[in-house]
Amino acid sequence: MLLKEIAFHIHLIMAISWIGGSVFMFILGITLRDKKAQQEVYPHVGPIFGWFEVIALIALLTTGFVLGGYYNLFELILNPNGSAISDAVVKKSILVLILTIATVIHFVIAYKTNGKERTKVEQILSRGSSMLIFFLNLFVMHYAIVLRDIL
Ligand code: HEM
Repeated sequence: MLLKEIAFHIHLIMAISWIGGSVFMFILGITLRDKKAQQEVYPHVGPIFGWFEVIALIALLTTGFVLGGYYNLFELILNPNGSAISDAVVKKSILVLILTIATVIHFVIAYKTNGKERTKVEQILSRGSSMLIFFLNLFVMHYAIVLRDIL
């Protein structure tokens, strides 16, 4: 019970950090259009933001697994039964899986090319994955709320 409470508090704080960070970077990407300013800001902010987000995501996944174990949700993910809770947990897990893959792609490119010119493919993959992460977050939030409403 205490472990579940601790896990849930960490889960929430990390969800706020993870989503808040991605919304802020989205706003920064839209408003900071000046090339020179971008070259000054991103090489410094990028790695700090990147590690902050990676730690938040790892903490989210770890606490998510603790909570999922506590509520026996993994049985439902493997054998969905059509109930509202099974539906919400399956959808949330699929979205989180895609989100994690998109984050790994984005992080690897960002890490490899920080402060350097990007190829066209790297540019498309980097921008595409960050847009995907941003929008997936909104849907993950939705299914997280549906899930908690039922539990
Ligand atoms: C990017 C990843 C994730 C985000 C942003 C996220 C976000 C959230 C949020 C915001 C809540 C609280 C909803 C509310 O209070 O209305 C929540 C609850 C919950 N999450 Fe996640 N989550 C993530 C990953 C996971 C994973 C991988 C699992 C494991 C299946 C999981 C399992 C749960 C459970 C069981 C609850 C309800 C806990 C309770 O009611 O005690 N989450 N999540």
